[in-house]
Amino acid sequence: MPPPCLRLATAGCALAMLFASAAAFQGAWNLPAYELCKAIALPFIDDDASGATYNPVTQSVWVITGSPKYLMEFSERGQMLRKLSWDGFKDPEGLAWMVGYQMAVLEEPTKGGVTVVNVAPGVVNVEERRTKVDLDVPSHTGLEGITYNDKEEVYYVVQEKDPKRIVEVQLNGTYRELFTLENIGVGDLSGVHYASQINKLFVLSQEDKSVMKVTMKGKVVQQRDIAGERPEGIAFTPDGQRMFIVSEPRSMSIYSTNGCDELI
Ligand SMILES: *[C@@H]1O[C@H](CO)[C@@H](O)[C@H](O)[C@H]1NC(C)=O
Repeated sequence: MPPPCLRLATAGCALAMLFASAAAFQGAWNLPAYELCKAIALPFIDDDASGATYNPVTQSVWVITGSPKYLMEFSERGQMLRKLSWDGFKDPEGLAWMVGYQMAVLEEPTKGGVTVVNVAPGVVNVEERRTKVDLDVPSHTGLEGITYNDKEEVYYVVQEKDPKRIVEVQLNGTYRELFTLENIGVGDLSGVHYASQINKLFVLSQEDKSVMKVTMKGKVVQQRDIAGERPEGIAFTPDGQRMFIVSEPRSMSIYSTNGCDELI
């Protein structure tokens, strides 16, 4: 950020403001600035790539799939590093990195539930921690994605429709509606990412093949189209310069705000 302009009349100040407005439009967390660098087919699965998250500790992208049920780890360039099978999931819908090697898995059986799993480097089996909580939300409404706010220690879960909304969930399963997104012209909601860096949510719509940047009060401030047949999962690097979109049946699109050279 440039120093504040105390003397608005100076040429230097005008120049600084020009650069500041250009910088605000470019770069990380600004949806129009993301360039599609690569789209890869997810190996080994037939269908149902359901959720994605980025782990800054391992600097890798994790994807959860429903058919077959896998947790897969990828490099930022999209190379598969690990594939873990775990039949403990009934119907995985979303994945959220929490801390260290811990991730939360959102499932949608008759009731929704959140299970915390621990996947340290080198392990080949998913180790489940006994922290499963049930979400007593009617199943027909569809819980589609999860993300974690480590400062507040809450999850945000996205509900597909009836109503389209974001629900805030405590670690013990207590939940409340954060806001609805009913009159914004998209048919459904399918994934969510909380960006603590800007305190905003990125929300996917599968039917509209779009991603929205939304304030914590539910105001849509940006929206853009994205690649993929049926986008279901969204993840970012902590610097906001890479965006990963996972789509059904089985693809991952990798976006960048600072060129594609490092990703090829
Ligand atoms: C769940 O946790 C929240 C936040 O810590 C607390 O306010 C609430 O009373 C807890 N609910 C139950 C049922 O334990």
